[in-house]
Amino acid sequence: MPGTTLNTKSTVHDWPFETRPLSPSLGVEIHGISMAEAVSPKIFSKIHEAFLEHQLILFRDVDLPPETQVAFAKCFGEVQQHVMDQYHGYGHPEIYLLTNLDKAGNPSGAHPDKGTLHWHTDGSWRPRTGLATMMYAEITPKEGGETHFCDMYGAVEWLSQEWGPRLANLKAIHNLDFSRTRRHGEDPMTEEQKAKVPPVAHPIIRTHPETGRKAIFLGDHAESIHGMAYDEGRTMIEELSIAATPDHLVYRHHWEPGQCIVWDNRNLLHRATGYDTARQKRVMRRCTVLGDAPY
Ligand code: SIN
Repeated sequence: MPGTTLNTKSTVHDWPFETRPLSPSLGVEIHGISMAEAVSPKIFSKIHEAFLEHQLILFRDVDLPPETQVAFAKCFGEVQQHVMDQYHGYGHPEIYLLTNLDKAGNPSGAHPDKGTLHWHTDGSWRPRTGLATMMYAEITPKEGGETHFCDMYGAVEWLSQEWGPRLANLKAIHNLDFSRTRRHGEDPMTEEQKAKVPPVAHPIIRTHPETGRKAIFLGDHAESIHGMAYDEGRTMIEELSIAATPDHLVYRHHWEPGQCIVWDNRNLLHRATGYDTARQKRVMRRCTVLGDAPY
């Protein structure tokens, strides 16, 4: 196995794997270890270091059956069982299955979750928000169906002059029913599901609990601003969402089958891109690990 690795930030690590940067702002590909090695406690602590330092880690050409994926996700912490249980897959309530295939295995023409096409962070609609998401690609389209990631540490610096003073102490109210109805209203949440996830307020600037760095915490589940008139809050959320996601902070990932990405939801926004759902197939499995309440 390879020894010392020099990463893009010129820090020397004793990681027992090699890393290759994916973009100037975030993400590394990890290679030189197997999934079985990655979950062993000694090596997992190094994987976790790479995850914290680079915000996103990619493994290529991995065989990751659903139960192994859940076990790998559990290394990061408690895995969420999504309130919209119609997405649970393979008999695992921890897996959120995004597929456009019908029962016969053909493209259905319908996108499974159009909310994913807009910048968001997973689980921001809960008191304990998403720590990490681990997504595995089973089947990928030739064109489109990418996932884009935007660096919210970088956004704090980028927006500091124009927005900084306005954001201090502001909280946004995150509401899954709001984003679901807005983006995928043809298949709304049931009353029972809504009752389980009432709206929750989180700071717009949060402190990452492990790195201590500040990040913008917003995204498509943010409906309004606590203590501000609804329309004024909506305008601010829309403007801030555009301002916080400039091209130079974005990594665009084109998926291949067998790839697994783990990203940090506390300091990244992400969104999927569209694809031809009537002709192309896309099957992705997601596990989201629960973090803590943002502060
Ligand atoms: C998600 O938003 O969690 C899924 C993104 C994707 O399908 O690429």
